[in-house]
Amino acid sequence: MCGIFGIISSDNNAPTSTYKGLLDIEYRGYDSWGVAFLKDNQFKIEKEIGFLPKDKTFESAEVAVGHTRWATHGGVTELNAHPHTDCDKKIVLVHNGIIENYLSLKKELIGHKLISETDTEIAVHLIEDEYRLTGDLKKAVSNVFKKVDGLNAFVVSNGSQIVAVKKGSPVVAGSAANGSIVASDPNAILPHTNKLLFLEDNDLIEIDKSGIKLFDAHTLLEKDVKYTDVDWKYQGADLADFPHFMLKEIYEQPKVLLALAENASAVTEIAEDIKKAYGTYFVGCGTASYACLTGVYLFSKIAHRHVNFSIGSEFTYIQDYIKKGSLVAAVSQSGETIDVVEPFQIAKRKEATLVAMTNVIGSTLYRMADKKLMLNAGPEKAVAGTKSFTSMVANMILLAYATAGDLKAGVEVLEKSAKEIEKVLEKADEIKALADKLHTSKNIYILGRGLSYPLALEAALKIKEISYIHAEGFAGGELKHGVIALIEKNTPVIVFVPNDETKHAILASAQEVKARGAFVIGIGEEETEVFDYFFRVADTGASSILPMVVFPQLLSYYLTVKLGLNPDKPRNLAKSVVVK
Ligand code: AGP
Ligand code: GLU
Repeated sequence: MCGIFGIISSDNNAPTSTYKGLLDIEYRGYDSWGVAFLKDNQFKIEKEIGFLPKDKTFESAEVAVGHTRWATHGGVTELNAHPHTDCDKKIVLVHNGIIENYLSLKKELIGHKLISETDTEIAVHLIEDEYRLTGDLKKAVSNVFKKVDGLNAFVVSNGSQIVAVKKGSPVVAGSAANGSIVASDPNAILPHTNKLLFLEDNDLIEIDKSGIKLFDAHTLLEKDVKYTDVDWKYQGADLADFPHFMLKEIYEQPKVLLALAENASAVTEIAEDIKKAYGTYFVGCGTASYACLTGVYLFSKIAHRHVNFSIGSEFTYIQDYIKKGSLVAAVSQSGETIDVVEPFQIAKRKEATLVAMTNVIGSTLYRMADKKLMLNAGPEKAVAGTKSFTSMVANMILLAYATAGDLKAGVEVLEKSAKEIEKVLEKADEIKALADKLHTSKNIYILGRGLSYPLALEAALKIKEISYIHAEGFAGGELKHGVIALIEKNTPVIVFVPNDETKHAILASAQEVKARGAFVIGIGEEETEVFDYFFRVADTGASSILPMVVFPQLLSYYLTVKLGLNPDKPRNLAKSVVVK
């Protein structure tokens, strides 16, 4: 994970530009931050634990590199925060990834002063030794990069040059009128320039005042720099009048759905590819994986077609089915999740058709894919995915209807669900009041059947990832196979009861938990006696899970706020998960 930014700036404003760049990519990791810039022939480093301060001023300097960390090796401390330096503070380095062989590499270091517990610091001291021998920063970085195992990106500076190299982690460079920039996310570069250079694995760039040169990281043979002139707009995000991004993004969902409905024909070509494919595999992680799982139900029900679903990190173990003619669709808000990028790489080697369903234009998955289906949800800043999930599911609905030859029906159910979400949002205070009642709960269980099963999984993830209350989603039918042992007097159990074929069976599950003393929270169209609390969400057909998911989104948000926690930046998480 982590955010990286580095700049050589002709306007002497490098530290401030770096700090602003880091604000744009802080979602990648926010354990600590740091900015290094050259002052009187030595690097000066400002580091802190926690979030970047809102307004911060820096001295002027021509060269700076910065980092926001998602700790893998070594606790969240100021000493472990990047940038790290060599012994004389003449070289600084920021790093994304894990140096898998750092312990054995550490043994090569003799006479160095190491101050952190990170794997990262080893690299800058190894570079220090190599630089002393060669006097050439790119050679020094290349020699160390060749020794390092794992997926890593390094950005290194000696005060006059910046050298960046990568394998796995995303790195992009930009050539601007005011200098040259390197970062882990194109969006952070767009305020300076639209002229971008996307590094491939094992590329190395050398930046100095004259511009950017590209090399093979192993041979150091120079390569042509081919910039891509992108027409993407910088996506800043402000809170408008909302207290948190998560709440703002929840409220944006009707708009997202209506825009997708309006542009529904975007799915047509991919629906045709799905029809022709030898087999279709939807691959995603976390919230995106639950959206993928909805695809299995939606395609079966609407298009009478079997599609497969795999969690990204499990794909490796089922890849033997994939062959030329298969279609692999990566579903990912960020487009960077390494556990989805790797399946894509496997599928590419096997000559499958690659489809990226992502929210981020220019992201790794976007660039790898043969075809793209944009989520068009707008920037999602809160770590907890809300409107991206809605867009993923909406796209699944449209794809399933288009595959069945009835895209119009898909558009209609999306429009209906957008209206129903508005009604749910109008009743947000009711959900807030419920959160006030439930915030001391130790466990919350969520039950659903059919399409509401992935919904139950998503609801549980939302609750646990931001409120830290233990929550589990189950298929209603699994209760009697073990889960029911967890139910005690007053255990809150949320039950999704849409007006579909699951209704009677899920109500029976509700009765079973009620009989064991559960506090039953029913979400659906019709109130019944079994519910201790009822929240009405009108049925919108195949899209019913869209208005229903807003209930757990708001519940998790209000639980979190009630507990005095920050819903946008939950502990231990990051928005873009680019380490394994
Ligand atoms: C969502 O609330 C989670 N933070 C997480 O599960 C996320 O969905 C997952 O990491 C996948 O991210 P992606 O969509 O960017 O690939
Ligand atoms: N492994 C390094 C560390 O723990 C880098 C982590 C990151 O990518 O932020 O500091």
